[in-house]
Amino acid sequence: MSDPTPRPTIEHRDFRPIHISGYERAANDFYPTPAWVTETLLRHAPLRGPVWEPCCGDGAIARVIEAAGLRVEATDLGDRGYGSGGVDFFAQTAVPAGCQAIVTNPPYGDGGAERTSRRASSQLLAFVRHAIALTEASNGQLALLVRFTWIAGQRAAALLSAGPLDKVVVLTHRIMWFDMGPDTKNGQHHHCWLFFDAQRDRAKPPEVVFG
Ligand SMILES: C[S@@+](CC[C@H](N)C(=O)[O-])C[C@H]1O[C@@H](n2cnc3c(N)ncnc32)[C@H](O)[C@@H]1O
Repeated sequence: MSDPTPRPTIEHRDFRPIHISGYERAANDFYPTPAWVTETLLRHAPLRGPVWEPCCGDGAIARVIEAAGLRVEATDLGDRGYGSGGVDFFAQTAVPAGCQAIVTNPPYGDGGAERTSRRASSQLLAFVRHAIALTEASNGQLALLVRFTWIAGQRAAALLSAGPLDKVVVLTHRIMWFDMGPDTKNGQHHHCWLFFDAQRDRAKPPEVVFG
């Protein structure tokens, strides 16, 4: 069987390695998303623009969406030289004017001292809950990159099935979040895009596709 997914390419070399094997997580969970991950989303999800990237980091996702021809409003709590800094996603009560879709790789909440705490998963749940609420209010779309196993948790499953989940795009290649040359280890987690559309036909069950 032919494999339609390009092999992952590593574009970012200036950030810190991810947790577990004794590594520290980066401040604010800053892990730029490799381009192939967003390209896979764009192949499977027909996004309506303009798009809001509310945790844009250095623009790793936003640049790929813009290259596909959609305008992107990019904001982040921090300032990494791209988009507008100092914008807390949780403080936003609506999507930026005109935006039709939210797309991001959210902070998973398990950085630093909180990485083993129950609060970590609660933070991601709160992020997803807020993102779904903003999506419903704007009759728009939402794409979130999460760990594949996360969606099986009881609280996550309840939240996701109550929202307008349209498609789960399962990434069959593991993401390498950093590059340490020949010593780089494979990513430990499989990820997927959760794609919601407030305008979907809610009588239909969500679809699962492999990218
Ligand atoms: C995993 S990184 C992803 C960066 C970018 N979306 C990408 O995929 O390359 C998470 C980003 O979320 C930002 N962030 C963390 N908490 C936030 C908040 N409450 N509001 C907005 N951005 C936040 C961090 O500064 C960081 O840039």
